[in-house]
Amino acid sequence: MRFKILSLFPEIVEGFFKSSIMAKAVDKGLIEYEILNIRDYAYDKHKKCDDYPFGGGAGMVLKAEPLAEALDSINAKNKTVVFPTPSGVKYTQKMAESLAKESEIVLICGRYEGIDQRIIDEYVDHEVSIGDYVISSGEISSLVVIDSIYRLCDGVITKESLQEESFQGKYLEYPHYTRPAEFRGLKVPDILMSGNHEAIEKWRNKKRYEKTLNNRPDLLED
Ligand code: ADE
Repeated sequence: MRFKILSLFPEIVEGFFKSSIMAKAVDKGLIEYEILNIRDYAYDKHKKCDDYPFGGGAGMVLKAEPLAEALDSINAKNKTVVFPTPSGVKYTQKMAESLAKESEIVLICGRYEGIDQRIIDEYVDHEVSIGDYVISSGEISSLVVIDSIYRLCDGVITKESLQEESFQGKYLEYPHYTRPAEFRGLKVPDILMSGNHEAIEKWRNKKRYEKTLNNRPDLLED
């Protein structure tokens, strides 16, 4: 999987690719990435990337020209382009699974009030929202999308971990414990120390159901 990320703040994105599981996946050649600094594609001497919105209103808009230049430099019209935005469709695990089948994904990190609509019309395949809230940094929403995708790519994490995860099935995860067996007087449930795998499985399923009922009853609706 190859990610190409267009950003005004490449340092935010770079840190993610240089850390933890992603860094290992990059080292192993499972993931490739390129970060394009949108400012490098601005024409004028001040490298201006934003401007006032036509028709008035608060905030600034990311200009079309530098974005288009950056996108053309990577032949983005022939690639899958994702633009995370609060006005996108709700981003889901299903979409992550579908995007993980691509060989290359381009992400546009928005800023300010948004980006010029003509870029969305001409280049963007998926406008996605990571939730019903607004964050300032398109880098963060792009990284959420990237994280959800790269971990599904072959060899990045074990198949077993993926299978067990919340949202892969209909229920949330069961509670996890690790050593010590007692922490500040709080004991790990006896069943987990019993060695009885069948009973443990049953207990975990019960906990998964309870957690889902409490935290996300909507998942149980049908
Ligand atoms: N950028 C700002 N808020 C966002 C959201 N909720 N989803 C995706 N991108 C965003």
